[in-house]
Amino acid sequence: MQLVISGLSKTYSGGVRALDNVSMTIPTGMFGLLGPNGAGKSTLMRTLATLQDADSGTAKLGDLDVLKNKTEVRKLLGYLPQEFGVYPRTSAVTLLRHLATLKGVGTSSKERNEIVEALLARVNLFDVRNKAVSTYSGGMRQRFGIAQALLGDPRLLIVDEPTAGLDPGERNRFYNLLSEVGESVIVILSTHIVEDVKQLCSQMAIIHRGKLQFAGSPSEAEKTLAGRVWTRTMAKSELTFLKDMNILSTKLIEGRPVVRVLEDHAPSPQFDATEPNLEDVFFSHIQ
Ligand SMILES: Nc1ncnc2c1ncn2[C@@H]1O[C@H](COP(=O)(O)OP(=O)(O)OP(=O)(O)O)[C@@H](O)[C@H]1O
Ligand SMILES: [Mg+2]
Repeated sequence: MQLVISGLSKTYSGGVRALDNVSMTIPTGMFGLLGPNGAGKSTLMRTLATLQDADSGTAKLGDLDVLKNKTEVRKLLGYLPQEFGVYPRTSAVTLLRHLATLKGVGTSSKERNEIVEALLARVNLFDVRNKAVSTYSGGMRQRFGIAQALLGDPRLLIVDEPTAGLDPGERNRFYNLLSEVGESVIVILSTHIVEDVKQLCSQMAIIHRGKLQFAGSPSEAEKTLAGRVWTRTMAKSELTFLKDMNILSTKLIEGRPVVRVLEDHAPSPQFDATEPNLEDVFFSHIQ
């Protein structure tokens, strides 16, 4: 199954064009949606999750018109929003049972309870299932968020910046869980962490100011800059020499600026040719 998005546009009442004629095809597997703050990632995800309408364009999941057949889509959909609120003083197992009932999961309450317990085990929260979700750490809460998104075996799983604020261990656990799911369903993951897309996603897109900048695999993305990225470590006092160059990034490494530029030829003999990385591609599209 594929999700085919064509010509999707959305302008908010304030005049912001959050999606500008976006088209892309998303296959089964992990798909990374990369963009800076305000790029339009959440707008796209909420639209695909049937929570808001686009002004124009279409999205089709197989034969299903995602923007028109909302009720049908919701049966196939799991969604973890960027801001995920939980009820106070309600345990994970109670809350998940409640959400399962709302979603119409299981034919009897016995079956529903079994599904809920299996999901809590899958996201590694079984031992703490009777604790209030509001007392969970950020990582536990996100894993609970995935459990609720996985209710009803979705074919399309949409997760909006799910790892913000997670420590590296929790982030890894969360991503292992997602990529397991991604073996059989479409998982769309938004993030501004380039490294996450590189590690996890076989296909990706970069959006900026509502416009699609790139779609393809991370390695194809890197190839687009082959032979054009140059790097140099320099003293802070030398940074003024860079003013006419097309700078991708300036980072401090052990306190010294390391600059990466995008030019067809070495900007000066002090620069070394280097392999483009995904972050270079990201910066080249958002400047
Ligand atoms: N309900 C709204 N009303 C008006 N403008 C909005 C609304 N929601 C989003 N926007 C604007 O639309 C643009 C895209 O926002 P969106 O939340 O989709 O970006 P994002 O890529 O998810 O950003 P972030 O990484 O910060 O979550 C932004 O300029 C934002 O201010
Ligand atoms: Mg967002």
